Amino acid sequence: MPTTHVFAFAGSLREGSYNRALLRAAQEEAPEGVTIEIFDLTGVPLYNADLEAKGDPDRVTALKDGIRTADAVLIATPEYNHGVPAVTKNAVDWASRPPKDSPLDGKPVGIIGASPGMTGSARGQSQLRQAFEFTNSYCMPQPEILVARAHEKFDEEGRLTDEKTRSFLGKYLTAFEEWATRVSEDGR
Ligand code: FNR
Repeated sequence: MPTTHVFAFAGSLREGSYNRALLRAAQEEAPEGVTIEIFDLTGVPLYNADLEAKGDPDRVTALKDGIRTADAVLIATPEYNHGVPAVTKNAVDWASRPPKDSPLDGKPVGIIGASPGMTGSARGQSQLRQAFEFTNSYCMPQPEILVARAHEKFDEEGRLTDEKTRSFLGKYLTAFEEWATRVSEDGR
């Protein structure tokens, strides 16, 4: 059985980020044959075409290489002011460059998210999907993971304690693995 390697990042730089914690839980719940590598966006500068013209900064190169060599990309995004936070979008913007050789082109993408609010980052996730129309990435439509009231579902150490969410995460990843295989251009 081939392995599906998933490159994942959370759109938060916060040490106690619920979204990063959600990715750690995803690593624990990954079905057999799925590996999840978590990339930290710390150190990825704000997109600047002048910087890019001098050559991608090291963390941007690491981000883009990680996406390029992975079978699929999983993003756990918070929601800020009913939209996608700058940290998440900035990573996608760097990875979208140059458009003719973007590592996101044709890449299967999964979007999940957590928030202490009642909507579990739904609007942030929704808005993020739009970016992947331009990058020609294949965003999995369903299932979705919207972790609402996140402060009640993770403990002090950032471990997901909500068993229902944990079990659903496993089902999500099984569906994501199937999606990535179905849409991958090399027909894995
Ligand atoms: C938020 N937060 C938030 N939550 C939400 O559900 N909808 C929203 O529109 C917003 N807006 C918002 C704006 C700004 C500027 C901040 C700083 C926060 C709360 C947010 O979900 C919360 O801080 C999460 O904990 C952020 O995710 P991480 O860092 O825990 O992954």
